Amino acid sequence: GWKMQDVMEEEIKVIRNMVGPQDHVICALSGGVDSTVAATLVHKAIGDRLHCIFEQERVMQTFESDLHLPVTCVDASVQFLSELKGVTDPEKKRKIIGKEFISIFDTFAHDLEQKLGRKPTYLVQGTLYPDVIESCPPPGSGKTHSHTIKSHHNVGGLPKDMKLKLIEPLKLLFKDEVRELGKILDVPVSFLKRHPFPGPGLAVRIPGDVTQGNALDILCQVDEIFIQAIKDAGIYDEIWQAFAVFLPVKTTGVQGDQRTHSNAVALRAVTSQDGMTADWYYFEHKFLDDVSRKICNSVRGVNRVCLDITSKPPSTIEWE
Ligand code: XMP
Repeated sequence: GWKMQDVMEEEIKVIRNMVGPQDHVICALSGGVDSTVAATLVHKAIGDRLHCIFEQERVMQTFESDLHLPVTCVDASVQFLSELKGVTDPEKKRKIIGKEFISIFDTFAHDLEQKLGRKPTYLVQGTLYPDVIESCPPPGSGKTHSHTIKSHHNVGGLPKDMKLKLIEPLKLLFKDEVRELGKILDVPVSFLKRHPFPGPGLAVRIPGDVTQGNALDILCQVDEIFIQAIKDAGIYDEIWQAFAVFLPVKTTGVQGDQRTHSNAVALRAVTSQDGMTADWYYFEHKFLDDVSRKICNSVRGVNRVCLDITSKPPSTIEWE
């Protein structure tokens, strides 16, 4: 196995050789482990010629105070949602999200150019090895069919008019190695232990039209209850990923003395080593019972909670 200290030093060398002394680099932070570790590594290599952008999709502690990363915050949710309105095809959704990401980068890069008097030349991405092989099996790997499962927007999906060159310092690493590297780079444990979050965001957890009803709002509320319960039960670190899925289906319920016709949601939790295969997580019945009650009692518009009991394969971890 590789020693992470060596990997880190080697990567820093590579980045310093690649990025010229006048060059500026930009990076979009998702709030997850990969982009955080990738940015921290690049920051260590080239300092404040790195410029990060963070979209306020998920609430989180400031990058500035914990990591000393130079970050600009934007809220692009309105732009994303207006482009996604009415779109139901999963691949189309990913393509649109990828395209919107690029357009936000472009604006950010343009603003930066005004400020610095020169264009940023590189873009950092937290692409991991499993992303690379799932998107495009390496030659000679023997994996030729059906491994191009989903178009991970952050792998090879950049439009041609994108003038930025890519820095992908994690692309030979697995998740556990990224966590190890993050530890050496002094990334706070709270970041390193955070469950992975898909690049395309919550859109892949709302099958169909993301803008239907108040799907996003419901999804966030259910997710928060579920994740909090998992943390309270002390099992967060045993789980690779846990999240709620908004189901685009209305079912009949009886709440109070009223019949309701509201949405169903699904809960998904899996254990995994690298995200390429996964097993569904066995919760205690009492835990599930408590969570289910709490969700139906406190989230308006939900009257049914389902549990996803499928492993990967045959399912993927995300629903889209
Ligand atoms: P799936 O759903 O394919 O996901 O079993 C495997 C792991 O990858 C995450 N994921 C993504 N990450 N861009 C990303 O950066 C994407 O388009 C994407 N799709 C899924 C997923 O959350 C899981 O950890």
